Amino acid sequence: MPLNTPIRDWTGKRVWIIGASTGIGASLARVLLQAGSRLALSARRGELLQSMAAEFPAENVAVLPLDVTDGDALKSAWRTLRDRWGGCDLIVVMAGDYVPMSSFNLDQQAAEHLLRVKLHAPLQVLECVLPDLLAAGAGGLALVSSVAGYRGLPRSLVYGPGKAAVINLAESLYLEVRPRGLGVWLINPGFVATPLTAQNDFPMPCLITAEEAAREILRGFARGEFEIHFPKRFTRTLKLLRLLPYRLYFALVRRITQ
Ligand SMILES: NC(=O)c1ccc[n+]([C@@H]2O[C@H](COP(=O)([O-])OP(=O)(O)OC[C@H]3O[C@@H](n4cnc5c(N)ncnc54)[C@H](OP(=O)(O)O)[C@@H]3O)[C@@H](O)[C@H]2O)c1
Repeated sequence: MPLNTPIRDWTGKRVWIIGASTGIGASLARVLLQAGSRLALSARRGELLQSMAAEFPAENVAVLPLDVTDGDALKSAWRTLRDRWGGCDLIVVMAGDYVPMSSFNLDQQAAEHLLRVKLHAPLQVLECVLPDLLAAGAGGLALVSSVAGYRGLPRSLVYGPGKAAVINLAESLYLEVRPRGLGVWLINPGFVATPLTAQNDFPMPCLITAEEAAREILRGFARGEFEIHFPKRFTRTLKLLRLLPYRLYFALVRRITQ
C-alpha cells in the first residue's frame, strides 16, 4: 500500500511552489507545467518568476512574489489562489537558504534567519492553508528538507537541526492529516547543483542537476511515497549511517569529512 495516493497524471493539477525562482523549485515548476499542471510560483524575486511564467500559457501560471517569512503576504497569496482556482491540490514548501556554520563561527543573526526560512515558514504555511485543505478533505503538502537532517554533520550547526526539525514536522503532519484525506510528502534531496550549493568548497558526492532532482520528485509522487529521497546511491548510504551506534557513526563521519 503506498503511503500517499500516487500522482501520475498532472494534467490540470493546481500546484503552488513556494521557492520557485531558482534551483530545484524552478526545475520542478517547469517539469510540472510541461506535464499540464497549473502552477502558482512564489519567491522573493518576482522578475525571475515572471520570466519563467512568460514561457508558458498565461492561464496556466500565476506569479505571486512573496517572502515566505511574512505571514500576511502568505495569507494574501493564499486568498488570491483560492479565488482564482477554488482550491489547491498540492503546496510545495521549497524555499530555503544555506549558510555553512560551525561551532567556531556561530552567527546568531544568520542562524535566526535560516531557522525563520526553514522551520518557522513551513509552520506559517501550514497555519495558512491547513484549515481550507482539511475542510475540503483533499489536497496535500510537500515539505522539502534534506539528508543533512538525518543526523548531525560538521559545518551544519544550524542548517542540519533546521532540516531535522522539518523531517519531524512532516512525520507528525502525516500522522495527523493523512487519515483526514490529505497527502503529506517529505522531500529529502542529496547534493543538487543549484545556486544554494554553488558556495560549497568541498567535493559533493553523487551531485545531480536540478532537472534530475525534479524528475526524481515526480517519480516519488508517481510511486505514492511519503519520503522522496534522491539520488538513491547517496541517500541509501546515509540511511545506513543513520542506523549506526554513535561510536561507529562519529568515527566514520570524522574520517569521511576530514
Ligand atoms: N541543492 C541541494 O543540494 C539541496 C540539498 C538538500 C536540500 N535542499 C533544499 O532544497 C530547497 C531548494 O534549494 P535549492 O538548492 O534549489 O536552492 P536555491 O536555488 O537557492 O533555491 C531556493 C529558493 O528558495 C527561495 N527563497 C529563499 N528564501 C526565501 C524567502 N524568504 N521567501 C521566499 N522564497 C525564498 C529562493 O527564491 P528568492 O531568493 O527569489 O526568494 C529560491 O527560489 C531548499 O529548501 C534547500 O534547503 C537543497
